[in-house]
Amino acid sequence: MAEPMNVHVIDHPLIQHKLTIMRMKETGTKDFRELLEEISMLMAYEITRDFPLKEVEIETPICRCKEKMLAGKKVGVVPILRAGLGMLNGVVNMIPAARVGHVGMYRDPKTLKPVEYYCKLPGDVAERTLIVVDPMLATGGSSSAALSLLKEKGAKHIILMCLVAAPEGVRVINHDHPDVPLYVAAIDEKLNDKGYIVPGLGDAGDRIFGTL
Ligand code: PRP
Ligand code: URA
Repeated sequence: MAEPMNVHVIDHPLIQHKLTIMRMKETGTKDFRELLEEISMLMAYEITRDFPLKEVEIETPICRCKEKMLAGKKVGVVPILRAGLGMLNGVVNMIPAARVGHVGMYRDPKTLKPVEYYCKLPGDVAERTLIVVDPMLATGGSSSAALSLLKEKGAKHIILMCLVAAPEGVRVINHDHPDVPLYVAAIDEKLNDKGYIVPGLGDAGDRIFGTL
């Protein structure tokens, strides 16, 4: 029997509709980019649902009252370059005070192994909740390596947010990083022999940046 996968699938109808348009091969760069940003915003709304609140006393033009504001750790958003950049603005639109770190990771097309080429993070990563974003979780190698790198740099509280995942990638993240909650908009059928997600949406970086 297949082991259960620990993953949250955010399958809101708006997200499913927009993702279907992104998957279509005739969808061009402009629309692809805009849809990814919109979905990222909707996903950010969902993944922050359990963020803690504190009561604060304020004064409205009418009276003094006690209301709620975000408490808890500050947020950092970490796109995995390059395709993760396509999800950055959507998240930052929802959490404007977030700091942004960058991890550069590409997948060697022959070995499919991740290669790290850049890392620049806020100085206080240990004190922040990091939302790591990458649209594609295929073999899971790139995201898993990025999460390991962030932990080496001191990160303690990380959430991984991807658009489309293959079951293989979900298993790798669950196995390598059981402490990291994983949020995706869809889990597709499988990987093909070139490591692409099926049905997927093709090469996310190329479609975002028009480098096809
Ligand atoms: C893509 C994608 C992920 C990775 C997923 O990046 O954005 O980072 O592949 O594959 P994996 O789960 O098998 O590691 P890519 O290597 O194409 O680089 P790019 O973002 O610079 O286009
Ligand atoms: N990276 C992508 O951009 N797409 C895939 O299907 C797999 C890895």
